[in-house]
Amino acid sequence: MSSEKTNQSWGGRFSEPVDAFVARFTASVDFDKRLYRHDILGSQAHARMLTQTGVLSEAERDAIVAGLDEIRREIEAGTFEWRVDLEDVHMNIEARLTERLGVVGKKLHTGRSRNDQVATDIRLWLRDEIDAILAELNRLQQGLLQLAEAEADTIMPGFTHLQTAQPVTFGHHLLAWFEMLSRDHERLVDCRKRVNRMPLGSAALAGTTYPIQRQVTCELLGFEAIGGNSLDGVSDRDFAIEFCAAASLAMMHLSRFSEELVLWTSAQFQFIDLPDRFCTGSSIMPQKKNPDVPELVRGKTGRVFGALTGLLTLMKGQPLAYNKDNQEDKEPLFDAADTLRDSLRAFADMVPAIKPRREIMREAARRGFSTATDLADYLVRKGLPFRDCHEIVGHAVKYGVDSGKDLAEMSLDELRRFSDQIEQDVFAVLTLEGSVNARDHIGGTAPAQVRAAVKRGLELLAKR
Ligand code: ARG
Repeated sequence: MSSEKTNQSWGGRFSEPVDAFVARFTASVDFDKRLYRHDILGSQAHARMLTQTGVLSEAERDAIVAGLDEIRREIEAGTFEWRVDLEDVHMNIEARLTERLGVVGKKLHTGRSRNDQVATDIRLWLRDEIDAILAELNRLQQGLLQLAEAEADTIMPGFTHLQTAQPVTFGHHLLAWFEMLSRDHERLVDCRKRVNRMPLGSAALAGTTYPIQRQVTCELLGFEAIGGNSLDGVSDRDFAIEFCAAASLAMMHLSRFSEELVLWTSAQFQFIDLPDRFCTGSSIMPQKKNPDVPELVRGKTGRVFGALTGLLTLMKGQPLAYNKDNQEDKEPLFDAADTLRDSLRAFADMVPAIKPRREIMREAARRGFSTATDLADYLVRKGLPFRDCHEIVGHAVKYGVDSGKDLAEMSLDELRRFSDQIEQDVFAVLTLEGSVNARDHIGGTAPAQVRAAVKRGLELLAKR
């Protein structure tokens, strides 16, 4: 007989209650209670299935389903009392159900274990999170396309090594971010397929002796497939790791994006303005307007990388099947999902509000010899080998640096000092518009190509 003081769910073989600190140390309810909605959905599907196979009566099923609905309402109303001595979300809900229904409540756990229960809950929860994340991602991509369309003709310097390289259009630059986010979307959609496989029915590790019909619960819960091995079913956390890997890449992209926004809003660049509502001031320097949102997103990226590393490390030493270690999967996973979702939301709100300072961008592109490659290409078209052209233009740039003149500011006579192949038509090539318009192929920076890419992007979003 279990003593009064041992745990009511598993105290049967214990002769003394668990140490008070150990009870707190091993409990997960403080963080896994956020799985309550999915835990209840899983339990209701399980009870329905057990009725179809004759394990529970219809009256028992109805009492369990209604009782769980009532518990969900209690939780949402804030009247549910979460108890640390009941360890986790699963036992808290089951204990409350038994309190309400008596012996019927105790039948719910037939043919099931917390091991397959928790694995099911996390997958159901993550599936919903991925859908919410994809919606924010979509919103952000929509905003990027809109801005890219509006800025298809806006010229700015393109950089390599953060040094002015060649002129590009701002629309083209924005679409580079769109491209990264499209890959993130693909990765999350693909990851969702492996999240959406059902471990329920694996029971503790070996399956169950009760007549269960896993196709029934699979269909009720909207899983795409049933996990094919019970040992793997209770212990697999690949789906969580995959999600964190996809989330890490997405955060890395947002972090790079953030870095550019931070640079561009600085007094040194002044390429863009962010509206005040996305910035904060300084308590000591009255002139300051800080780009806190991008800075914070850049900073939060580390948490998501940490979650990925944490989960990989959590799994690497575990023998089959379930081990208590797995309880440590939740906090990093929750944090990674929250961080990505909030960061995407902030960006989706902020991007359409970016105000480019077109004159400053243009002026920056005009300076810094950004059309030097165009001059070299011009000489190639006149029949010179590219390496010689590179050399000739190098001399012209050196002269420009010494005399404080950009290439387009030199006279024809000055330019002809470096090659007699240079003629009046060179000035069309040295203009910023000439330079961007010349890169007129799929993936190039020409305004016409930016518009075509926006169109392709809109088609992609419409297909989702
Ligand atoms: N709270 C546990 C977890 O998060 C639930 C499963 C517990 N299973 C067990 N055999 N102790 O993993």
